[in-house]
Amino acid sequence: MRVLGIESSCDETGLALYDSEAGLLAHALHSQVAMHADYGGVVPELASRDHVRRILPLMNQVLEEAGVDRAGIDGVAYTAGPGLIGALLVGASVGRSLAWGLDVPAVGVHHMEGHLLAPLLEADPPEFPFVALLVSGGHSMLVRVEGVGRYALLGDSLDDAAGEAFDKTAKLLELGYPGGPAVARLAEQGDPTRFRFPRPMTDRPGLDFSFSGLKTFTLNTWQAHRDEEQARADIARAFQDAVVDTLLIKCRRALDETGLDRLVVAGGVGANRALRQGLETMLEKRGGRVYFPRLEFCTDNGAMIAFAGCLRLQAGQVETPAIEVRARWPL
Ligand code: KG4
Ligand code: ZN
Repeated sequence: MRVLGIESSCDETGLALYDSEAGLLAHALHSQVAMHADYGGVVPELASRDHVRRILPLMNQVLEEAGVDRAGIDGVAYTAGPGLIGALLVGASVGRSLAWGLDVPAVGVHHMEGHLLAPLLEADPPEFPFVALLVSGGHSMLVRVEGVGRYALLGDSLDDAAGEAFDKTAKLLELGYPGGPAVARLAEQGDPTRFRFPRPMTDRPGLDFSFSGLKTFTLNTWQAHRDEEQARADIARAFQDAVVDTLLIKCRRALDETGLDRLVVAGGVGANRALRQGLETMLEKRGGRVYFPRLEFCTDNGAMIAFAGCLRLQAGQVETPAIEVRARWPL
């Protein structure tokens, strides 16, 4: 079965063609980052309009690369939420219409399920069950994954998501948008011993996350040392160390509590090198294993949606032809 995947939940238009036998045939992505940079964040209306412009050319590019024509598409998967409602509607409308025109089934995919299953696109994928750490711009979650569609939420973010905390820290340190990669780059030049930020909610039981308090530490420290360029890197380092440490502590706890030894990491923050190294070391010590998607599939992409949609369609998921999307949607 060949499934066309469409991702348009935020500021990335991603298209991909996944074949249940041959694997990923082709994928293409357009990032709107440059367009939103002037505004310091994603402007929803601009995002929707750009998805309208990009989806069909990207689809044609993917089909051409895969050497498949439209008649070779057996199903369509699109991100149905959570995300920006207008942006989601663009992908959903194109996906549903295309499926209707081709007389093939269409399926609306949960964006976080896409992220969660992305490591399964790699060679030597993890077996079920596993614990998944999902850390993106909108979510920080720990999930126990028994199989496709069988997810138990272990921990969730109570306020700012991990990626959001990176983005806000970047803004405070005047590093521009998007912030995660910029903070991470600067942190590499920072002195890890200079400032120490708290590891939020690690001194009590539970697996929930709260990163919003770190903003205050960043702001106060930066205000006290603004005249000093090195302080910027030292703060970036203190912030990143606090987030990474907190994630490591919660992952360890989730593995202890579930008795599992496989950890899957996905979402944009999963691209963070310090986090990847920390988790590799921790899992090695425990005799377990950590699985990441390749870097380009950590952040939003069409491949994860095509893949999750293919699994759903193969499992016989059927939907009404209505175009429905959800800005908020529990996993
Ligand atoms: O998964 P994603 O592309 O979009 C959402 O679904 O939110 O994640 C984007 C988030 C942004 O907040 C971005 O700052 C963060 O991932 N991010 C990073 C890194 N690369 C992207 N955060 C820390 N370190 C990175 N290297
Ligand atoms: Zn995402």
